Amino acid sequence: MLNIALPKGRLGEQVYDRFARAGFPCPALLEDTRKLIFENPDAMVRYFWVKPSDVAIYVERGAADIGVAGKDILLEYAPEVYELLDLELGRCTMAVAAPSGFRDDMRRTLRVATKFSHIAEDYYAACGRDIDIVHLNGSIEIAPILGLTDVIVDIVETGATLRENRLEVIETIVPISARLIANKSSFQFKRTQIECILTQLRKETEENHD
Ligand code: PRP
Repeated sequence: MLNIALPKGRLGEQVYDRFARAGFPCPALLEDTRKLIFENPDAMVRYFWVKPSDVAIYVERGAADIGVAGKDILLEYAPEVYELLDLELGRCTMAVAAPSGFRDDMRRTLRVATKFSHIAEDYYAACGRDIDIVHLNGSIEIAPILGLTDVIVDIVETGATLRENRLEVIETIVPISARLIANKSSFQFKRTQIECILTQLRKETEENHD
């Protein structure tokens, strides 16, 4: 049985659909239930739903052989896993945003609110800009409105949250999408099964390429 960690939520449903089309369905998974673990012995797969930001932890520690995590999480936490495939789902951008009309005063330390402290630190270190990180867990957009910080580093998908809070993107950092990841020892010991899924998922992803 191959253990597969899927990110709970809308992205997870798109990801499961990709696995099902690739030949690894588990119809019980779409039933409206609070169950979190589902098996299809015929396809030799066991799926479980976890919080999107936790997928890499399950895979890194081997509780899951493979899983699907956002590139944002992989960049932020740098888990010891193999990144096997860009599924091209859940596309968005990691960006710096600020209130309209913001001008950076280079004489002052820039105050940055974010859930992605490492990504922000690496980005500004590469720019040679001094910053003060304010680590928050959500609703990041509020920080510059209330004067807690000057800018935010966050994910922008449709841009609606920024628009509705009168913020705008001032710099883009990196494109983000969902990635297939594998536990390092599972990739050695269950290589045939993982490569079989990888090949089918790659084919499905190419067919859905836009
Ligand atoms: C994410 C992100 C932005 C929003 C961007 O928040 O942090 O707030 O989505 O999406 P948009 O460009 O389509 O508006 P999430 O929904 O994860 O909630 P959070 O505030 O708890 O981080």
